[in-house]
Amino acid sequence: MKLYREPDNLIVKNARIVTPLGNTARKGKEMQELLDIPNGMVIVEHGVITYVGKNKRRLDTGDYTVLDAKHAVLLPGFVDSHTHLVFGGYRPDEFIWRMNGDSYMSIMERGGGIANTVRATREAHQWDLVFKSEWLLNTMSQMGVTTVEGKSGYGLDCETELAQLRTMSYLNCQKGRKLEIIPTFLGAHALPTEYEGHPDDYIDFLINEMLPAIREKEFAENCDIFCEKGVFTIEQSRRLLKAAKERGFGVKIHADEINYTGGAELAAELGALSADHLLHASDAGIRAMAEQNVVATLLPLTAFTLREPYARGREMIDNGCAVALATDLNPGSCFSCSIPLTIALACLYMHMSVEEAITALTLNGAAALGHADRIGSIEVGKQADMVLLDSDTPAALAYYTGMNCVQYTIKEGRILNDFNPYQTPLRPPFIKTS
Ligand code: NIG
Ligand code: FE
Repeated sequence: MKLYREPDNLIVKNARIVTPLGNTARKGKEMQELLDIPNGMVIVEHGVITYVGKNKRRLDTGDYTVLDAKHAVLLPGFVDSHTHLVFGGYRPDEFIWRMNGDSYMSIMERGGGIANTVRATREAHQWDLVFKSEWLLNTMSQMGVTTVEGKSGYGLDCETELAQLRTMSYLNCQKGRKLEIIPTFLGAHALPTEYEGHPDDYIDFLINEMLPAIREKEFAENCDIFCEKGVFTIEQSRRLLKAAKERGFGVKIHADEINYTGGAELAAELGALSADHLLHASDAGIRAMAEQNVVATLLPLTAFTLREPYARGREMIDNGCAVALATDLNPGSCFSCSIPLTIALACLYMHMSVEEAITALTLNGAAALGHADRIGSIEVGKQADMVLLDSDTPAALAYYTGMNCVQYTIKEGRILNDFNPYQTPLRPPFIKTS
């Protein structure tokens, strides 16, 4: 098979197309409902899907790259809707301390944790941030991610917050990019030492100086806050996010992660795009998110690495929530962008079905970023971001425990295979169910 990088006119034939449908998040039982077309074909013109259906018999393939899927499963590209991918330094020591019984919050209270990465990010050269992020983006792309959210929040001052956001804009402008980054402003990730004892003044600074500067340059679409006991209160979160919403930002909350604070309820009150983590969300918070169409973004890798109980994914879906799954990649609480492990944990420990996990990682992830009208499903008019698995069953996603079953990642109609180490004679055999 001859694979061209350009043009982005593509035909995928003989695929088992599996996808959620729609331009909004799928809630509750709807998360289970996927379109499933055997012997399917997707036609892409200039990066946009123009046909989805059964294989067409007679077709002029002249201007198209043709990919024979050989009956493998074709899914929408994965949307990792919660990551902190631009940062300086690493924090392996803290991981070892936690292994020995230290807690995430006690390390933070001692001046480590996020503050540690803030120091390293302030010192980092812009190009260090770019190269490091590029490496992470490549790793994500191999696992089928075509869109990723990137948060700032390791600067906590004007200059460094903007440097993080600028790094993402720069990476987004690369020709033939493998992933698109949706930037989120997380200036309220922690209280910087300069404002110690004056958290309200810091919130004022974010509202009066940072939000206008970021909005003017269109550096971020969404605004987030770490609403947590000992970090920012519900009242401070409400004040910042209300101001952000008035300025046109979508809003998101790190909610009920380590302690219950009522973050899920606040997300519902504000009409947030998503509330994220939710390990300690209340029953009332879950009901409120379902009613107000707030996407519940669950991050099982963080619960795993912090040895915390998993969020109540099954109950959230049964109560009518739209659940998204994301990795939370960051240098502290969760240094992993593993989509395979995220799926394994979601299916095994949050009791989600494979179909629900697919919806959570595609359409619902897109909705959590405010982009479900453009990405997140294989439908005519949507961007041609897709993933071809190494199997004819979507069950492979959970069955390949922590291992990658992505054969090709397709971004805007371009087949990204140059990085794929598995395209060798050592590639394991294609797994068939029958
Ligand atoms: O989502 N909880 C706050 N923020 C991140 C961790 C960031 C860090 O430790 O550097 C999270 O887990
Ligand atoms: Fe996070």
